Amino acid sequence: MKRFKIKELLATPPAGQSVKIQGWVRTFRNNQFIALNDGSTIQNMQAVVALASIDDATLKRITTGACLSIQGELIASLGKGQSVEVKVTELEILGDCDAEKFPLQPKKHSLEFLREIAHLRSRTNTISAVMRVRHAMAFAIHRFFNERGFYYIHTPIITGSDAEGAGDMFRVTTLDGKNPPLDENGHVNHKEDFFGRETNLTVSGQLEGETYALALSEIYTFGPTFRAENSNTARHLAEFWMIEPEMAFYDIHDNMQLATDLLQYLVRYALDNCSDDLEFLNKRAQEEEATKPQEQRSELSLLERLKFVVENDFQKLSYTEAIDILKNSTPNKKKKFQYLVEEWGVDLQSEHERYLVEKHFKKPVILYNYPKNIKAFYMRQNEDDKTVAAMDVLFPGIGEIIGGSQREERYDRLLKRIQEMNLPEKELWWYLELRKFGSAPHSGFGLGFERLILFVTGMTNIRDVIPFPRFPKSAEF
Ligand code: 4AD
Ligand code: MG
Repeated sequence: MKRFKIKELLATPPAGQSVKIQGWVRTFRNNQFIALNDGSTIQNMQAVVALASIDDATLKRITTGACLSIQGELIASLGKGQSVEVKVTELEILGDCDAEKFPLQPKKHSLEFLREIAHLRSRTNTISAVMRVRHAMAFAIHRFFNERGFYYIHTPIITGSDAEGAGDMFRVTTLDGKNPPLDENGHVNHKEDFFGRETNLTVSGQLEGETYALALSEIYTFGPTFRAENSNTARHLAEFWMIEPEMAFYDIHDNMQLATDLLQYLVRYALDNCSDDLEFLNKRAQEEEATKPQEQRSELSLLERLKFVVENDFQKLSYTEAIDILKNSTPNKKKKFQYLVEEWGVDLQSEHERYLVEKHFKKPVILYNYPKNIKAFYMRQNEDDKTVAAMDVLFPGIGEIIGGSQREERYDRLLKRIQEMNLPEKELWWYLELRKFGSAPHSGFGLGFERLILFVTGMTNIRDVIPFPRFPKSAEF
């Protein structure tokens, strides 16, 4: 007999037809009512066991977490909370689950505890809802770009380049760490390494992406990226996924527009296609908010925040204007910021970004034209000789969700910047050549996938929106 997904059956008119479902027991009440979940939806299917229809030994094995295969009739439910239910005719235990030892009980567990059992937290309502939304967002990203004629380019995971020029990379080597071959100067001889050179896990697919934008016009990459920075925060992972579109013939303003369109499209897609999960997550976030002191609570609920982003323009603001606002802000004057904003040129901390978004403008902000000294070498230099055509999109509760720029397409300017910043000019030979052979104005950005999922699900720790988070001192699963 064919297995139906619970999601499908919940939308099927009940007429006593025979159906088969398989899934995991969430609860079992009164030796009669099984709440079964197969992950196809946040909703459970109620399966009703007629009294005395199943032997006692089997009944005892129907425990929270056990895996069952159930056949029965799909009928209208008289009980509250569901419109249909399955009247059990046959029940098979596929996998027992010792109730004494199973760590997930039918009660609320802390997210910290669930992180320690990442192999089982997938069975909780919260994590499974988050992962369904994550799937929907990945799908919608491909759909958005496909609709606009962008090509998906698979940029390499192992590279020899440091795209951000910022260090903090995971080395990739097959040399024996205890006894590496040495060169005549006593340094590790990477000529003998697998690739004959030093390599690392990519921090960004951008540089390789640019080579394809300057051929196919509009491309994007969407893949894992790696940063060995030791930041133990609720916004950073050592392994995260990034969406990086790169477009020939786009200036910084076209770039900002694409970033706005993409974010609004994705949030709208979630609202239209993930309503069950979002309603659950909305309620969850509200319960969490209620435990916080009044002044820390957000003014809008999750669903209100999502609608707000779809319906309102983002505030565009130059770095220079932002510094003026921050300098004169109350928390700066009252020395409430951890990092006080005193002069033009400082890098913005997340407390400053969040002030602009959450307190001052109360909407997403696109900051652009940053000082060149705090930004990457490849960003296009503005005529003022002080700033570059960089842009960051800042979101409420998240801070930076997107970072991007117009790229420096002028060979001499780029070379000069590489030299000023002491970057390995030789290794960037191919990147420089793009500016020698048919260069074009072009732009792009990187959207942090997990930061997007944080925003859309209302979760507050990035470790809870990726199945197996990687962060300092943690790679258990
Ligand atoms: O601002 P970033 O470092 O920009 C780049 O890597 C550019 N090469 C992108 C481009 O222009 N193609 O990173 C882009 C985004 C950030 O805005 C943030 O959302 C996310 O990636 N991000 C992280 N997410 C999770 N954990 C980390 N450690 C992250 N670092 C950056
Ligand atoms: Mg950035």
